[in-house]
Amino acid sequence: MAVLEVIRNFFVPSASREITVIIPAPPTSYSVHPLTEKDLDELLRLNFRCFKDGENYTKKTFTYLLTQPNALCYKTITANNRIAGFLCVLVGENGTGHITTIGVAPEHRRRGLAERLLGHLDQALYDRGISSAVLEVRVTNTSAQNLYRACGFTVLQRLPAYYNDGEDGFMMVKPVNFSQAEAA
Ligand SMILES: CC(C)(COP(=O)(O)OP(=O)(O)OC[C@H]1O[C@@H](n2cnc3c(N)ncnc32)[C@H](O)[C@@H]1OP(=O)(O)O)[C@@H](O)C(=O)NCCC(=O)NCCS
Repeated sequence: MAVLEVIRNFFVPSASREITVIIPAPPTSYSVHPLTEKDLDELLRLNFRCFKDGENYTKKTFTYLLTQPNALCYKTITANNRIAGFLCVLVGENGTGHITTIGVAPEHRRRGLAERLLGHLDQALYDRGISSAVLEVRVTNTSAQNLYRACGFTVLQRLPAYYNDGEDGFMMVKPVNFSQAEAA
């Protein structure tokens, strides 16, 4: 939790709400790779498309995440080398992997990319001897909650007014599971 306190106030203001029609991307193959500082510009553009409720991390925050020795950051790329999804985790001193952000481009959603990133993370945490993963999610973000439940997370507690706009969050946790990590 202490780790997240460091970065959670670096959100930038909410973007305006507009209705956009999402045309699904053509079928492509995907692969998971480390996310690095070289990806920063493309990552920031994708981040703004994923988060429209004021949860957008700034360049400073992503630079912090991408340069911390205790951070694990991954991207899913398409066959033509575009970032379709991203995931950042900070490993706390208590030996827990704290998922700080995950996003998938709207045109690539419901293709299992987030599930794949979380499976990849499971393996990475397991390889480092990390036994649990934790995250926070808005109580209204039911699609993300469904994802996390599908990946083995359960709600540990409700966090009153956790977000800057006053919305409550859920803290969700999961054990890092060898068989799930192997299956990823
Ligand atoms: C949440 C998010 C990362 C999911 O990415 P995704 O690649 O589309 O998710 P997946 O395809 O791996 O979904 C895996 C499972 O999660 C659940 N799920 C994912 N999106 C869902 C949705 N919109 N509605 C209901 N269930 C959903 C389903 O159980 C799904 O399995 P299924 O497609 O077989 O039914 C993506 O919607 C996103 O980037 N949202 C905006 C950013 C965000 O809210 N991030 C989380 C902050 S806590």
